[in-house]
Amino acid sequence: MTHTIAGGRPAGDRLLGRAREIAQAEMARLLARTPASARLFERAARTLPFGVVSSFQKMQPYPIYVRHGRGSRIWDQDGGEYLDFHCGFGAMMAGHAHPRIVEAIREAATGGTHFAVTTEAAVEFAEEICRRFSLDMLRFTNSGTEATMDAIRVARAATGRDVVCKIEGSYHGHHDSVMFSIVPNADLMGGRDRPGTAPVSRGMVKDAAKYIEVVPFNAAGHLERVFQERGGEIACLILEPAMMNVGIILPRPGYLQSVRELCTRFGVVLIFDEVKTGFTIAPGGATERFGVRPDLVCLAKAMAGGLPAAAFGGREDLMRLIERGVSQMGTYNGNPLVSRVGLVQLREVLTADAYRHLARLGARLASGCQTAIDRAGIPAHTVDLGAKGCVSYRPAPMRDYRDFLDTRPELFAASYPWLLNRGIFMTPGDEEQWTLSVQHSEPDVDRYVEVFGEFCAALGG
Ligand SMILES: Cc1ncc(COP(=O)(O)O)c(C=O)c1O
Repeated sequence: MTHTIAGGRPAGDRLLGRAREIAQAEMARLLARTPASARLFERAARTLPFGVVSSFQKMQPYPIYVRHGRGSRIWDQDGGEYLDFHCGFGAMMAGHAHPRIVEAIREAATGGTHFAVTTEAAVEFAEEICRRFSLDMLRFTNSGTEATMDAIRVARAATGRDVVCKIEGSYHGHHDSVMFSIVPNADLMGGRDRPGTAPVSRGMVKDAAKYIEVVPFNAAGHLERVFQERGGEIACLILEPAMMNVGIILPRPGYLQSVRELCTRFGVVLIFDEVKTGFTIAPGGATERFGVRPDLVCLAKAMAGGLPAAAFGGREDLMRLIERGVSQMGTYNGNPLVSRVGLVQLREVLTADAYRHLARLGARLASGCQTAIDRAGIPAHTVDLGAKGCVSYRPAPMRDYRDFLDTRPELFAASYPWLLNRGIFMTPGDEEQWTLSVQHSEPDVDRYVEVFGEFCAALGG
């Protein structure tokens, strides 16, 4: 899954200098060929803060605005065509305008999209998700943020404890309980033995940090110490089984098993945040791929053909707390539109064959990029995890967030416009990764490898 290094050569001054030159030249080219995006940005910024609908989309000096998509491709505001490896931050595993998804949307729309009453489609959709993730019960939400917020509420009710334990450098949505230690700057990190808990957003309750405990990933010994000291206050541990907001960090062998055992021993509810790993790295997400069953699972993104569907679920005794005083509601939860489309996505689009196709493409893309890295001697490595994968600009695989700080943002800053200018659309930050869709093909992946190979040669040469 993880390919080790390459090159072995540290990012020396010459390489960084070359990266800066490439970034400058490619950015100038990008800006010159996207005047319509620049104009739309000017207009958007008058109505939308940063000119975007979510702060994750902001970019300097302006983002590339997309007009439409089909298959594995998208077209920007200027008519520029790209192969899409961003895939809507991982939501578009079906690819764009997938014929069966379009048809399902039409069918659902024809029958009425919203009644605020539970439909048979919602029940079937819930059953299908429970089957995939071995959940006893679930409830729908509309976003990953709501899913983690509600799962944490259930955990607090179940334990009578308030503190949330989370992994340093992880993102779990934008509600107050988890807005700590998300890609923290080195000066806010604190020591390894007690990672910092500075709030990430203004406007949060001032003493919110009292209710958070931050621990490093892949460090069961550290977690055990924290549970020994503070276990009686900790309601839950929420974690991504493979970290996915710093490239990709895989769990070390045995780590998730130890986490499971510690949570059981200390009565801490174990929540897997599978907003990104769910449906992408296996039909039943990380729960299936790594073979460890949490108490609750949070799901979103690739659930319903790009529609805003999400859910959380797990142990019956925990989920039945919703029948005994835990509030969980939402006007649009599991509405007929997302339920019918979600069912089609899970049953007809993300089939066993589709997962085999994605695994083949993912391996081809990651190994192709690794070969290019090795050939040019770039300090980077690739990770391949089903429909997800990434290049991280650090020679060896990462173990935790602090390793991510060794990656070279300058190299990413050069690669991003290079890829865009040659028709490869990627996520705008080095903390993200690629997502493949069922509509991607071998030639699509080979084109990525070709363009990335040229980039590596230009950088290293
Ligand atoms: C791991 C993880 N959890 C939760 C969320 C929040 O999901 P949403 O953006 O749907 O609120 C995200 C979003 O990127 C995520 O990556």
